[in-house]
Amino acid sequence: MVQQVRSLADQVATAMRAAMADVLPAELATEDPLVRRSERADFQANAALSLAKRLGRNPRELGAELAARLADVPWITAAEVSGPGFVNISLADSAMLESAAARDADDRLGVPADQAGQTVVLDYSGPNVAKEMHVGHLRSTLIGDALARVLGFLGAEVVRQNHVGDWGTQFGMLIQYLFEHPENAWRTKEVGQEETAGAVSALDGLYRTARQVFDADPAFKERAQRRVVALQSGDEETVAAWREIVTESEIAFQQIYDRLGVLLTRDDVLGESFYNPWLNDVVSELTGKGVLEDSEGAKVVFFDDIRGPEGKRVPMLVRKSDGGFGYAATDLATIRYSVQEFNGTRLIYVVDARQAQHFEMVFRTARRAGWLTDGIEAVHAANGTINGPDGRPFKTRSGGTVRLADLLDEAENRAREVVAEKNPAMAPAELDRIARLAGIGAVKFAELSTSRAKDYSFDVDRMVSFTGQTGVYLQYTHTRIASILRKAAVTGAGIGAFDPGQTLEPAERTLLLEADAFGSVLSGVAETLEPHQLAGYLYSLARAFTAFYESCPVLADSVPQPIRANRLALCRLTRATLARGLELLGIAAPERM
Ligand code: ARG
Repeated sequence: MVQQVRSLADQVATAMRAAMADVLPAELATEDPLVRRSERADFQANAALSLAKRLGRNPRELGAELAARLADVPWITAAEVSGPGFVNISLADSAMLESAAARDADDRLGVPADQAGQTVVLDYSGPNVAKEMHVGHLRSTLIGDALARVLGFLGAEVVRQNHVGDWGTQFGMLIQYLFEHPENAWRTKEVGQEETAGAVSALDGLYRTARQVFDADPAFKERAQRRVVALQSGDEETVAAWREIVTESEIAFQQIYDRLGVLLTRDDVLGESFYNPWLNDVVSELTGKGVLEDSEGAKVVFFDDIRGPEGKRVPMLVRKSDGGFGYAATDLATIRYSVQEFNGTRLIYVVDARQAQHFEMVFRTARRAGWLTDGIEAVHAANGTINGPDGRPFKTRSGGTVRLADLLDEAENRAREVVAEKNPAMAPAELDRIARLAGIGAVKFAELSTSRAKDYSFDVDRMVSFTGQTGVYLQYTHTRIASILRKAAVTGAGIGAFDPGQTLEPAERTLLLEADAFGSVLSGVAETLEPHQLAGYLYSLARAFTAFYESCPVLADSVPQPIRANRLALCRLTRATLARGLELLGIAAPERM
């Protein structure tokens, strides 16, 4: 059995609990000690305030009693009450160094697998077939990818689900149009392009034309509707055309995923069409359980507290009056499947915030149906909108939607410029490679450093800067540390070892405390499903490193052993934490740039 490495914050909390057990009545002694980082000391514990209130006591007095107990702990150098009753706590250098040594020796950097036993069904990305991926799909794809990585690292079993929009009446329209206009080349071979992205952008255009004809020409509309029936009843020729469109689209999606370096593969696709055969079952089960109501020939679900403008209840449409199924029916089927086939304990849908009401209705219906039970959580991890650099909805100059591929090109080109400026001598092939990982990393970091529910502006110039809160700054910090460690290895300065006998400089203490927080930040991400907490954390870690390196030389001749060995170990621990954190955001951590 590997000895579990405990964070300093955890050790302080344990000491505080012991103090509480001494001082408080038993029923209060198990409350959360509320240990946080502090500006004035290493940590502060805030529990005295609320506990004193419950006991009808003076919080400063209670704080002082707890502080007195803590001051007796050998590795706590000072514990004092401050303000209205906070307890400020300072730790011995030796305790910090011992804990750092333990994390340095552990592959997981001391992070416990606290999500073990969870099966997370994670639905993200979900682009639509026959349409090009646009900037709107970026958020769900990147947030979902970061969550898949973090939850997986914390020991959860993660079932990735890409619920692509590959079914619906619009395909009848598109296929009918393609059949009637065979002169339109759209397949990869016909378009003469190697990349199937060409096929999908051709389809995207044909889809728009088909829609115009559909709206303008009643006879075409009727033929298109018959084509929908043919598709639904499995007509061979129609299904073959549909399958071809789906296949080309999925290849194009995968090109974007590979370029972004996200974990999704074609095995993760269970699109809308996959659930089609179950929709009748879903409806009959819901009918049997009395969950559905009839409304003008349609099958719907009502909720007393979900009402429209005039106070009228808003129905969730499960089956339309013409017998067709809505988006809701499919998502009810995804829940049933996730629970029954994947044994999911936590179902997460990373989808646009504008679908909040849809998911609320679907989840509540699934609870009424008994598919979601007490031990199973279903969450809509909502994401906001990406705006253009001017803060307004993202559009091309001609008013069209912005293709994701074009944005990525732009980010890579800008990254190439800034990297080339810093490294005029870099070989072209190397410059290409670095520009790609810096450009993609910049886009990802910008996305993941914003709270997912907030809207943000896509501003490439700001994203690729070497300074400020950017992916490039983090990658660059990583290369600086990597370079110190390389130099140490060749100059024989040693590999570094934490030495509990050292006295630490303030900047070293700050850096050690930052590194200590890694595990608790990851648990926070697992709870809130907010990867931006990790992004923000990595930025403060990088800044703490920069401050450390400014005031604490590592390889200079003036630095004697064992101080140098100790500082090298601190570099190594920081590098490992930064690299792991970037990996969990899906961002490359280069050795040079
Ligand atoms: N295809 C949908 C869209 O573009 C997203 C699908 C989200 N997942 C889901 N299970 N509803 O809006």
